[in-house]
Amino acid sequence: MLGPMTLALLGTGLLGSAIGQRLLRRGQSLVVWNRHPERCAPLLAEGARLAQSPAEAAAQADWLITVLNDGPTTASVLLDQVGAELNGRGVLQIGTIGPEQSCALAAAVADRGGRYLEAPVLGSRPEALEGRLQLMVGGPKPVMEEALPLLKLLSEAPVHLGEVGAAMAAKLALNQLIASLTHAFSLSLHLVQQSGVAVEPFMELLRASALYAPTFDKKLQRELAGDYSNPNFPTAHLRKDLQLFINAAHSAGLNSEGLNGLVQLLERSTAAQLDGLDYCALHALTAGQTAAATPG
Ligand SMILES: NC(=O)c1ccc[n+]([C@@H]2O[C@H](COP(=O)([O-])OP(=O)(O)OC[C@H]3O[C@@H](n4cnc5c(N)ncnc54)[C@H](OP(=O)(O)O)[C@@H]3O)[C@@H](O)[C@H]2O)c1
Repeated sequence: MLGPMTLALLGTGLLGSAIGQRLLRRGQSLVVWNRHPERCAPLLAEGARLAQSPAEAAAQADWLITVLNDGPTTASVLLDQVGAELNGRGVLQIGTIGPEQSCALAAAVADRGGRYLEAPVLGSRPEALEGRLQLMVGGPKPVMEEALPLLKLLSEAPVHLGEVGAAMAAKLALNQLIASLTHAFSLSLHLVQQSGVAVEPFMELLRASALYAPTFDKKLQRELAGDYSNPNFPTAHLRKDLQLFINAAHSAGLNSEGLNGLVQLLERSTAAQLDGLDYCALHALTAGQTAAATPG
């Protein structure tokens, strides 16, 4: 059980708000900050306290939990806005950022007297609400030991993968699979339908084969209906993560050329107004018309 301490949650977007709800429902004392404070309302209704700034949130807390959109925002909030209040505090950095960005952040937090763990997650709002996220940890083991009661509120089995950077690399490796599998299935589904083949017999063949991945069925109904509303994980974040994967692969000396076309396709999602929708809206891009309508 986590001892009596206060947690500060910086970022109450889709994932952050679900993590905040989980912590409140497990009896934690929580102070929250978000750039647009109205997004904190559901958490305030469940007992969280609102801070006017990241520094004000940090000043009341033992651990800061960041669930912000990307690396530059996370660095700006922690280093420029929390700043000196990092001294003596722990940072649990959950948002998906690049491994190199995470290493730079860890060093800058340490310079200011703080402790840093990266803790990216696989899973989304439902898993966060139930404490069933797959949580990957990068950072010093003693710091993870210290944070373990907190980590166990979010995940049944937090896994230590190495030093800072290692867990972010693993997270990007997993999200590259989300992007690639979603893309591959989407194109095949379109071809099957446009060739006049019924979807269910095709799915039965696929399910019985070694090619099947459960994510295909998870997204099938949305894709058939063209319903990408109420996202847990939006298309813009998938694009960000694929680009981060390509950057990391480049740093590792790999050849990720095969992913360039997929990034280009995902770049069309902004003009097609799909950025804020569920990432399987990629299916609307592979349909061709949206892609053809957008110059590039
Ligand atoms: N959703 C998921 O299922 C999921 C799963 C695993 C990992 N992640 C990762 O977790 C992170 C958050 O994802 P999310 O789905 O919760 O995204 P989201 O709903 O888009 O929330 C993004 C958060 O970042 C804040 N933000 C954006 N730009 C900012 C800026 N310039 N200054 C200050 N704050 C800013 C937003 O504040 P405002 O509300 O004021 O815009 C919001 O708190 C991302 O790195 C994502 O890749 C998400």
